[in-house]
Amino acid sequence: MSNKKDTNQAWGGRFNEATDDFVAKFTASVEFDQKLALHDIQGSLAHAEMLTSIDLLSPEELAAIKKGFSDIRMEIEAGTFEWHLALEDVHMNLEAALTEKIGGIGKKLHTGRSRNDQVATDLRLWLRDEIDLISKELSRLQRALVDLAEKESATIMPGFTHLQTAQPITFGHHLMAWFEMLDRDHGRLIDCRRRTNHSPLGAAALAGTTYPINRKMTATLLGFDEPMNNSLDAVSDRDFAIEFCSFASILMTHLSRVSEELILWNSAQFNFIDLPDRFCTGSSIMPQKKNPDVPELVRGKTGRVNGNLIALLTLMKSQPLAYNKDNQEDKEPLFDTVATVKDCLRALANMVPAIKSNQKSMTESARRGFATATDLADYLVRKNIAFRDSHEIVGKAVAYGLSINKDLSEMSLSELQQFSTVIEADVFNVLTLEGSVAARNHIGGTAPKQVRLATKAARKKMGAI
Ligand code: ARG
Repeated sequence: MSNKKDTNQAWGGRFNEATDDFVAKFTASVEFDQKLALHDIQGSLAHAEMLTSIDLLSPEELAAIKKGFSDIRMEIEAGTFEWHLALEDVHMNLEAALTEKIGGIGKKLHTGRSRNDQVATDLRLWLRDEIDLISKELSRLQRALVDLAEKESATIMPGFTHLQTAQPITFGHHLMAWFEMLDRDHGRLIDCRRRTNHSPLGAAALAGTTYPINRKMTATLLGFDEPMNNSLDAVSDRDFAIEFCSFASILMTHLSRVSEELILWNSAQFNFIDLPDRFCTGSSIMPQKKNPDVPELVRGKTGRVNGNLIALLTLMKSQPLAYNKDNQEDKEPLFDTVATVKDCLRALANMVPAIKSNQKSMTESARRGFATATDLADYLVRKNIAFRDSHEIVGKAVAYGLSINKDLSEMSLSELQQFSTVIEADVFNVLTLEGSVAARNHIGGTAPKQVRLATKAARKKMGAI
């Protein structure tokens, strides 16, 4: 970053003294908004094309602008472009560079436009591209979950409520629950893209412009669905960024819950899964350690993403219409959220296919903890005992099991009959873990058959996303 001290050519006309050095630094955004450079060029080219169509630029001038920007783009991509703090932001840096390259024609580019509609346009174009990348990564993670769920459709594990063994479930069913959470997030992302994809360009500073501009043309050139309806709203609306950050916070909440379970299950105490070594790290003091750093970091990064959402909400609260310099503060939280979400999705999408289930230990754990107690209660109901009474009967059987350290399925028929004489030999069909999960065979149930149907439906839906 050069600190070359130019008077800002773009607005210096009415000023009698140079900007204070600290103020220049304090108000500049180029250190972070240079990230928008390629989208700024994209917006400028559409604007120049439109100005040409209404004879405010000649075809030759348009050609010079295109050539100038193509050179600038190459310099940016090569990392040789020189950014100047004194030129404040990405927009004025690029305009100054263009003018330096093609002379006076560059000064015509800003006709009928303001940095206010320019920055709003850039940010929407940039976010739209990022949304598309995030959508791809999210799909990759969703697919990985579906693949694993299919493989594990009949693997039995304990299902928990209050982190206490509740009922047996299939591992595939649990994985598909994660899929559903992410699928709702994906829906929110697509919704957010729809509202992001509107063009502020042409709103100019706030009130529109006196030139006979063609806003539909620039919107179409930039791939926006339509121009925004109201110029004041167009330059001041940052809902799309807030909406993206809300999507991101909910997504990270989900990824954090997923991570928490992976961390628990990977512990020696649970021993349900093995995370591959390449996704873990060791301890410098305890040689036995293999730490699940990747899910731990995903869980931890949820904090900053939530913080960014609150930053944006607070930024916009009470702002009078239309543009205020406050809005320059919209970028860093949004950039950070996008980068964090992309990294977390990538880490999990790479890791999930490599998760190894410890089926034996999952099943053994389900066997402890009386996971089929509800099945026994339901069995008694089928034998004409009222549910509240059957609940009481099974409660007593569980207390007995605890005292002699036996699961319900390990008791003999006569032991079980101490609690109710209606119990017959067929009870063992419902007391086995396999029988228990297979019996929950309805839409959304944990039966292996339903899990396979769910994975099939998910695949079909993913094809459509
Ligand atoms: N750097 C500014 C931003 O990010 C660009 C818009 C400046 N507009 C203005 N009227 N000062 O918001």
